[in-house]
Amino acid sequence: MEHHNKLFLLLMLLIQVLLVAAQTNSQDYNGLAALTGFWTNRPPNWVGTDPCGSNWEGIRCSNSRITELKLLSMNLEGQLSSAIQQLPELDTLDLSYNTGLTGTIPQEIGSLKKLKSLALVGCGLSGPIPDSIGALKQLTFLALNMNRFNGTIPGSIGNLTNINWLDVADNQLEGQLPVSDNKGTPGLDLLLQAQHFHMGNNKFSGQLPEKLFNSKMLLKHVLLDNNQLQGSIPSSLGQVSTLEVLRLDTNGFSGAVPSTLKNLGQLSELYLSHNKLNGSLPDLTGLNSLSYVDMSNNSFNDSDIPLWVSSLQSLTTVLLGDNQLSGTLNLTSGYSNSLQLIDLQDNQITDYKPGSKKINFQVVLAGNPICHESEAQKLSYCQLPLQTPAYTTPLNNCSAQSCSSGQVSSPNCKCAYPYTGTLYSRALSFTTLNDTDYKELEQSLLKSFESQKLPVDSVSLSNPSRNASNNNFQLTLDVFPSQTDRFNRTGVSSVAFVLSNQIFKAPEFFSPYFFNGLNYQYYGGEPKSKSKHTGAIIGAVVAVVVFLGLAFVIGMYALRQKRRAERSELNPFANWEQNPNSGAAPQLKGARWFSFEDLRKYTNNFSESNTIGSGGYGKVYQGVLPAGEVVAIKRAAQESMQGAVEFKTEIELLSRVHHKNLVSLVGFCFEKGEQMLVYEYVPNGTIMDSLTGKSGISMDWIRRLKVALGAARGLAYLHELANPPIIHRDIKSSNILLDSHLNAKVADFGLSKLLVDSERGHVTTQVKGTMGYLDPEYYMSQQLTEKSDVYSFGVVMLELVTAKRPIEQGKYIVREVMRVMDTSKDLYNLHSIVDPTIVSSTSPKGLEKFVEVAMRCVKEYASERPSMAEVVKEIENIIQLAGLNPSVESASTTESYEVPLGQNVKHLYDNEDFSHSGNFPTAKIEPQ
Ligand SMILES: *[C@@H]1O[C@H](CO)[C@@H](O)[C@H](O)[C@H]1NC(C)=O
Ligand SMILES: *[C@@H]1O[C@H](CO)[C@@H](O)[C@H](O)[C@H]1NC(C)=O
Ligand SMILES: *[C@@H]1O[C@H](CO)[C@@H](O)[C@H](O)[C@H]1NC(C)=O
Ligand SMILES: *[C@@H]1O[C@H](CO)[C@@H](O)[C@H](O)[C@H]1NC(C)=O
Ligand SMILES: *[C@@H]1O[C@H](CO)[C@@H](O)[C@H](O)[C@H]1NC(C)=O
Ligand SMILES: *[C@@H]1O[C@H](CO)[C@@H](O)[C@H](O)[C@H]1NC(C)=O
Repeated sequence: MEHHNKLFLLLMLLIQVLLVAAQTNSQDYNGLAALTGFWTNRPPNWVGTDPCGSNWEGIRCSNSRITELKLLSMNLEGQLSSAIQQLPELDTLDLSYNTGLTGTIPQEIGSLKKLKSLALVGCGLSGPIPDSIGALKQLTFLALNMNRFNGTIPGSIGNLTNINWLDVADNQLEGQLPVSDNKGTPGLDLLLQAQHFHMGNNKFSGQLPEKLFNSKMLLKHVLLDNNQLQGSIPSSLGQVSTLEVLRLDTNGFSGAVPSTLKNLGQLSELYLSHNKLNGSLPDLTGLNSLSYVDMSNNSFNDSDIPLWVSSLQSLTTVLLGDNQLSGTLNLTSGYSNSLQLIDLQDNQITDYKPGSKKINFQVVLAGNPICHESEAQKLSYCQLPLQTPAYTTPLNNCSAQSCSSGQVSSPNCKCAYPYTGTLYSRALSFTTLNDTDYKELEQSLLKSFESQKLPVDSVSLSNPSRNASNNNFQLTLDVFPSQTDRFNRTGVSSVAFVLSNQIFKAPEFFSPYFFNGLNYQYYGGEPKSKSKHTGAIIGAVVAVVVFLGLAFVIGMYALRQKRRAERSELNPFANWEQNPNSGAAPQLKGARWFSFEDLRKYTNNFSESNTIGSGGYGKVYQGVLPAGEVVAIKRAAQESMQGAVEFKTEIELLSRVHHKNLVSLVGFCFEKGEQMLVYEYVPNGTIMDSLTGKSGISMDWIRRLKVALGAARGLAYLHELANPPIIHRDIKSSNILLDSHLNAKVADFGLSKLLVDSERGHVTTQVKGTMGYLDPEYYMSQQLTEKSDVYSFGVVMLELVTAKRPIEQGKYIVREVMRVMDTSKDLYNLHSIVDPTIVSSTSPKGLEKFVEVAMRCVKEYASERPSMAEVVKEIENIIQLAGLNPSVESASTTESYEVPLGQNVKHLYDNEDFSHSGNFPTAKIEPQ
């Protein structure tokens, strides 16, 4: 028996671990929620509150901290908000290929001190690259290409001394490239670890400073093509002896090419076309790695074609069209075996000496005097260069399937939905590729995917072409899934990551490359949910005690509990996301979305004079909407920003709940890293302010009864009429406000909890609330029920009677009343603790009964407490006893009672409270 008990305990312990141990640091969870809360198309397995423990797609953790966020090609829509700073342990952030990701990169990106890799390729981002990026000292990989960034490159990028890969190509960046100065301003010349400067296709202008390049650099690829750079090509480039690819084409460079380029022994591709270069072609003799040379569309004017044009041993392609070259193309002394094309079209060449050896490459002299004769037109060297031949990856010894709609037959003849994108070479070494080259490219792609253990069956390349405007060579890439007919999000994201992060090492001839992925339309088809993981653990637990049928039953129970707990934490944004028309701003009942700008206007730029309260939460401002409506705007401080999930809970709850005894939400703002709630303005402070005399509103006994009734009705509504029911969780006198007619209004649903689990009538949660009001049973059991609010309300009732704080000078109001209360005596012997102001005026009719009800509310056992509906009835009866009509709305004995705005009324939002971490009466308890 004892043995059984021990096993039972062990089992309970294991289950406890399963249930309680969220593996994710809660700060990281909140950060993630805040960052992605308003994004649409988040992975559907993002359920619950434990990204690390429940294998959320795109998330990787280390020691409970979120270290990787990779969501590529997921059709995400949203913005990269400042909440990014709340994920300080990230080392990899890749959101590439989500064109719906718009807005700017927030300055706060600079807080990610551990970031090593940042890739935002092919998104819809715009605005400047923030200079805080220079604070990411660990960064080795930065890819921001294919967005709409504008402004200049911040010099602070020069602080990224570990950077290896810097790609800002295909944007609208402008201005000069920053170089360091001797006053300590950093610049690109300090990036001594960098191998890649990819900055093509922007609007950079001005001169390329000599200082930009030096002999300590390790640059392999310098790509500055398609910009507006001017002046001469800096001769310092010749010092970068590691250089393999230099692209300066399509700029405004002028003058002669510096002779120092001759020192670049590793140079493989040289693009200087479409500039205003003049003088002689540079002497490239000795550059034995050189394979591709494009100096077309300049003003070179050699009077004979130099020998190196044909003799360099690695040359495949020489493009010298549209210059002023004259004289003879003399190939009699031989040429490189690798040659594919010498293109000299549109020059002044008058003679061609092919020599005796057979020419197995294309020579293009069209547009030269030598081809002007009409008979010459038919000569092969007077034809224009061939277009890139077509290519499609051949089938792998099988016969193509005819597939149902959307599916494609893979090279292995399986019907599936491939992940598709375009693969670009920024500097192909060849004029074009032959089948052997394509095969090598395919094999190396497959090998990369295999080495990452990705579920890839095959790859297919097709539609090769050379882009005439930027000279990139491009191909369609289809990646086919193995196992099933489609990828899940993890599959697509991982495949895309291999390409976005340059994990795929392309063959030399194809490097450098980049990839642009399309949205994948075919998610789904993956096994239904995350239960696999949970199931495995539960399974293990069950195995431990497999012989105990009992254990199994308990295990099932535990699983159900966990599911139930998860269900109650269900993504509160789901409804909005599922509604295709809802966009980023949720559709809420009556609640409006405000832009940050609007609210700034309405609050006079959040001026001090508009501040009506401040506390742990942040500040509360009074604002006036254009229609004249006065509102209270609760603006969360950075450090107390709640998770987006909690924030939205509050919005959702408040917007759904409409009752005259509940503060109503006018709208909200969730933008630019701000969380603001816009409430109706409730002008007369909290009932605590009234009781302590802070607000200047004195409350006689009848008024207190009415206030109690109003608050009770508000709460009863939450418990019984809201659907699903809502437990407030933080009922206290500083959360009950008085409007201009002194009607009570219950405020602050920040800690509210939907009571989804009506089956058992409670929700297991982390205990939250305020000391002094906290239901002891809830505190012990962590099981939240409506009765916990009833307890808190009982405490408020006692406050109304005594005008004392729940815990004052170490004395707990509930125990004090219990101690002195004697029902056999006059006024139940409460004279010593009843607020003298209500005893002195008229005799407080019904006070005894009121205290009785309050004491029932604070019964130790929830089951002995009345429901709020019963409390409402009891107070109505008391009011009738007191000779009043309880249906009268106003709590004021004088119907017209109003306190004008702006009077020295301390507002509810003051100091203690309205903040969840209010310090009254003592501390807020949040165990764990
Ligand atoms: C970059 O470095 C300079 C000097 O080394 C420093 O003054 C500046 O604050 C740094 N910038 C960033 C964004 O870290
Ligand atoms: C960048 O683009 C935005 C519009 O997308 C524009 O408002 C802004 O002025 C631009 N900034 C610069 C520096 O050109
Ligand atoms: C080359 O161009 C520069 C200005 O672009 C000019 O000053 C120079 O005279 C030209 N040289 C030759 C040889 O045409
Ligand atoms: C072509 O080059 C060879 C070898 O350099 C030379 O002997 C011959 O005279 C040249 N022919 C012409 C037409 O320049
Ligand atoms: C294809 O090109 C490569 C590299 O240029 C070359 O080595 C190979 O012989 C070519 N193969 C065929 C079949 O032409
Ligand atoms: C995604 O697919 C891979 C393999 O195809 C599988 O191992 C993984 O469990 C799937 N992930 C989810 C969340 O379904």
